[in-house]
Amino acid sequence: MRIAVPAEAKGTETRVAATPETVKKFIGLGASVTVEAGAGQGAGIPDAEFEAAGASIAKNGKDAAKDADIVLKVRRPGEAELKGYKAGAIVVATMDPYGQDEALAAMAGAKISAFAMELMPRITRAQVMDVLSSQANLAGYRAVVDGAAEYGRALPMMMTAAGTVPAARIFIMGVGVAGLQAIATARRMGAVVTATDVRPATKEQVESLGAKFLAVEDEEFKQAQTAGGYAKEMSAEYRAKQAELTASHIAKQDIVITTALIPGRPAPKLITAAMVESMKPGSVIIDLAVERGGNCELSRPGEVVVSPNGVRIVGHLNVAGRLAATASSLYAKNLYAFVETMIDKKEKVLKPDWEDELVKATLLTRDGAVVHPNFQPKA
Ligand code: NAI
Repeated sequence: MRIAVPAEAKGTETRVAATPETVKKFIGLGASVTVEAGAGQGAGIPDAEFEAAGASIAKNGKDAAKDADIVLKVRRPGEAELKGYKAGAIVVATMDPYGQDEALAAMAGAKISAFAMELMPRITRAQVMDVLSSQANLAGYRAVVDGAAEYGRALPMMMTAAGTVPAARIFIMGVGVAGLQAIATARRMGAVVTATDVRPATKEQVESLGAKFLAVEDEEFKQAQTAGGYAKEMSAEYRAKQAELTASHIAKQDIVITTALIPGRPAPKLITAAMVESMKPGSVIIDLAVERGGNCELSRPGEVVVSPNGVRIVGHLNVAGRLAATASSLYAKNLYAFVETMIDKKEKVLKPDWEDELVKATLLTRDGAVVHPNFQPKA
């Protein structure tokens, strides 16, 4: 049983899909592990630490992946990488499969069994494998840290001999995993925190973290949560009411952090250019939804935009990757927890149960075909 850990593409991905800790555990299950030289560099893990954990180091990705039964990655492999994988190899990564028919066809063509970690069902058994939660939690924390760094004033109230500094006002829009961690972090840093969401369940969560909840709580709001726990796309009428309610609030905020997403849809636009214009110079917007089109009309992927009235609109990509060491350690554990279920502990061989609900929910391609029902190629 051979496991490969290739390096991710430089410049876009700082994280790595295994750590010395998970390497040791895989070896304990009877696997041999090969890590590409430099794979841990962005996450602060030198090759020597992987070697000390029992891995061998390959000089390039091709050598690492050659003959591997399992390839662990952060991002979906590109066509060049796929050429180096053996047919039948299990490849586990965040595959970003939506609207990527060509990439899925390429993985099917390479005859790999590709698993998309982000499709893991959010059931109790799979919580330890939930990469969306582990990474969103860190992104929520980092959003507050980035916001504090961009903001030219202090966050907590300070009473000093030279005068009193007021606490900063932070507004969190979208209270899923990232938003909840942003609230907790902002509170710990001493800000006055308010938050909004369209799912009624969030009201109590926000209040239990010591923040104030603000939302249009009409009939549509009461129905906004799907059975899966996600938000629905709201009607134009609701959005207008929401904009009216939040506009005057946003004008008074020092930092706004947006995290609102709807599965399979572009991010809802919650902050208009006019709202940005109403904010004080020096205020900051951190848009965590920028990769999905953004919650703010003015945010740009990968850029810090400064509006004419001096509001900084931050659109960092891969925010979890800005905490590469922590993000890698949690991501690697998520992967280990899943892959471990596919290993026969007695015989020390790879033996996936293709009927297992976690396998079925995440498997995109197998034996040359796209097998996931939600990603069938259009006829
Ligand atoms: P997400 O990343 O899909 O969305 C972030 C937030 O944006 C959500 O709270 C959503 O309601 C909100 N939102 C969407 N449209 C909005 C709008 N127009 N205005 C304001 N807010 C808007 O959500 P995430 O973080 O993946 O969490 C989704 C749900 O899954 C939550 O209920 C969470 O508690 C639950 N969950 C359950 C887990 C489990 O049971 N194992 C693990 C992780 C999350």
